[in-house]
Amino acid sequence: MNKIGIIGAMEIEVETLKSHMQITNTLERASMNFLEGLLHDIPVVIVRSGIGKVNAGMCVQILADVFQVTHVINTGVAGSLNAVIDIGDIVISTDTLYHDVDATGFGYPLGEIPQLGTLNFTADAAMVAQAKASCEIVNPDIKVFEGRIVSGDQFVSNPHVKDTILKNFPGSFCTEMEGAAIAHAAWLNHIPFVIIRAISDKADDSAHMDYPAFEKAAAEHSARLVEHLIQQL
Ligand code: ADE
Repeated sequence: MNKIGIIGAMEIEVETLKSHMQITNTLERASMNFLEGLLHDIPVVIVRSGIGKVNAGMCVQILADVFQVTHVINTGVAGSLNAVIDIGDIVISTDTLYHDVDATGFGYPLGEIPQLGTLNFTADAAMVAQAKASCEIVNPDIKVFEGRIVSGDQFVSNPHVKDTILKNFPGSFCTEMEGAAIAHAAWLNHIPFVIIRAISDKADDSAHMDYPAFEKAAAEHSARLVEHLIQQL
């Protein structure tokens, strides 16, 4: 029986999903409120992790240990790293990595954590394919992309930082602050995962201006997709 952990870093990313679920159990752990219950009759645990990599990783571990979730989905917003991917569009992770990890002094590629054995974390292929199909059904007017999502403890709003990320990790689709940590923790626990992000800004000096206006709509696009996706897994 599936039990799907759904994580959003911010309340705005999970509030609609929470309002649509039937809650059977609530638990506070590590200052996070886990809501367990049914969403469209599918067993789920929905939680706001808080922002950043530590919150995100801890959140997955609690979902694994306490709730024994079978799948992890991260829904939220991100900054675009590709001129073709516009505000409101959706990116589904093929894989994720950390853009802010550097152990190159020990001979590791930029982004790779020493002794972990991998640079990137590959999303579950079936969840990726289904997320794309769900998006085309529920958000037919929104463009959907599959590609690499890069994460770091940085809100990217400086074009030079954006350029550096793209120079280091060419071809990355978007950047945010939790996806790779969620993927990392899910990978360590052998739990299939996918990261789904709607674009709220261009990760440059227009980010501050665009962000408040587009965040809400972007978060809703992603959440709508998740509601459909969980019914297909
Ligand atoms: N989340 C949404 N936009 C972002 C950005 N530009 N950088 C990091 N995280 C984000």
